[in-house]
Amino acid sequence: MTGPSGSLCRVGRYASKLWGFAETGLTGVRQGWGAIATRVLEVGDFAQAPRSYRSAVYGAVPMAGVGQPKGCAGTQGTNELIDMEVKYSAHNYHPVPVMFSRAKDANVWDPEGRHYLDFLSAYSAVNQGHCHPAVMKALVDQAQRLTLSSRAFHNDQFPVFAKMLTDTFGYDMVLPMNTGAEGVETALKLARKWGYEKKGIPNDEAVVISCCGCFHGRTIAVISMSCDNEATGNFGPMLPGLVKVDYGDASALQKALEEHGDRVCAFLFEPIQGEAGVVVPVDGYLKDVRRLCTEHNVLMMADEIQTGMGRTGKMLACDWEDVRPDVVILGKALGAGVIPVSAVLADKEVMMCIRPGEHGSTFGGNPLASAVGMAAVEVVKSENLAERSAILGEEFRQHLEKIRQKFPHLISKVRGKGLLNAVVMNQQGLGGVSAYEICVGLKERGILAKPTHDTIIRLSPPLTISAQNLKDAADAFEAVLEHDLPGGTEVERVLLESIEAAG
Ligand SMILES: Cc1ncc(COP(=O)(O)O)c(C=O)c1O
Repeated sequence: MTGPSGSLCRVGRYASKLWGFAETGLTGVRQGWGAIATRVLEVGDFAQAPRSYRSAVYGAVPMAGVGQPKGCAGTQGTNELIDMEVKYSAHNYHPVPVMFSRAKDANVWDPEGRHYLDFLSAYSAVNQGHCHPAVMKALVDQAQRLTLSSRAFHNDQFPVFAKMLTDTFGYDMVLPMNTGAEGVETALKLARKWGYEKKGIPNDEAVVISCCGCFHGRTIAVISMSCDNEATGNFGPMLPGLVKVDYGDASALQKALEEHGDRVCAFLFEPIQGEAGVVVPVDGYLKDVRRLCTEHNVLMMADEIQTGMGRTGKMLACDWEDVRPDVVILGKALGAGVIPVSAVLADKEVMMCIRPGEHGSTFGGNPLASAVGMAAVEVVKSENLAERSAILGEEFRQHLEKIRQKFPHLISKVRGKGLLNAVVMNQQGLGGVSAYEICVGLKERGILAKPTHDTIIRLSPPLTISAQNLKDAADAFEAVLEHDLPGGTEVERVLLESIEAAG
């Protein structure tokens, strides 16, 4: 920004320039900070944003050349690194403006040494806590011995990992992959293959049923199952052979199965929809799904990439209703937040439909991932993280419920299982303040959470977090609602003052 005037005026002029605040007045302010951040990221011009905006985002921002922040790892500070990222990286995310530099368990530090508690856990990939010592030891030991053989040869880690996974989850066989989306793709291919070879579906006519509101990743096949325009817009044409039904509605599934009958090879679903905003289905839904899939000779395929590995208070979320899917997909915490590890589990009858040369991955089942995966599973088991998640999750929802009762006009619902929870904000009561803005407020108070959609805030800390830290986060949430909403937020104050100052 140019001009000699003070930072408040610069905020006003910057905002005016971008959105014509002079004309729109308070309407512009109502868009608040999420809009500012979005706009700044869109124009790729964070460096040009006024210091007071950046200060409102990051807390204390050093003046140029004065007291440069001391990085934990390097010499560059948060602002500089964000500028660099915005300039050189695709804008396919809208991050909360905080820079991870170091992390341990549920604790995160930025390059300036500010401390935060992680309430996202990298979308449930860090169930074991950041840099768990047992996982780090497995990583380092294995990295010094052997990292990759490819499956063109055998390596001495994968067979042990495969046995451990099948023993732990009770399936005959595993097919290893890397990312979650690859795991889902693998399950889709497996289901089609089984549909043609075992169920006798006519060639190229197999149908997979999935759910509205689902999130299974970002590849073309996977987004083809999405009902979210943001995920699918201008990425068409979508994959054929997919039917969508309402989530949590067993009668909708029954209808689709009756309609598409013998062509359906699989029903793919999340036992709790994570990205959709931690949508927990009604009790009995999983049992109904199991019964319907059996009745129609359709594979029940549970995407447990986010809900598995103890996240919801059981090793698998399907365990809550004691149902056994035909295919289970794991990812995220299977790599303990260290490296990508995913896996598809099934019995021989299904898995043996894939033969040599028909599917694979250069890195799937690599020795480093296998060693890390074994440590990841072992930590969840030996530290009883599933039980811990169930108990602490109950306690945490009680704290959040008290806050909801105190601010019923701001929070419409608290929901979740184990330590996979969400607070559903009341859009009307918030008067235009978005969930993103609340997350920025939480960040200012040392809690890192990410909104999903405009009104939902997911709270999913590492399963190793302490009860006290859960209480700290609930207190921070309460404080944001009590003190930081319009009229009280720093950015509102700065913007209002700057607009007034600009006349
Ligand atoms: C349920 C579910 N399935 C699949 C994925 C995709 O995993 P990845 O991002 O590792 O491809 C995610 C990621 O958020 C997920 O939550």
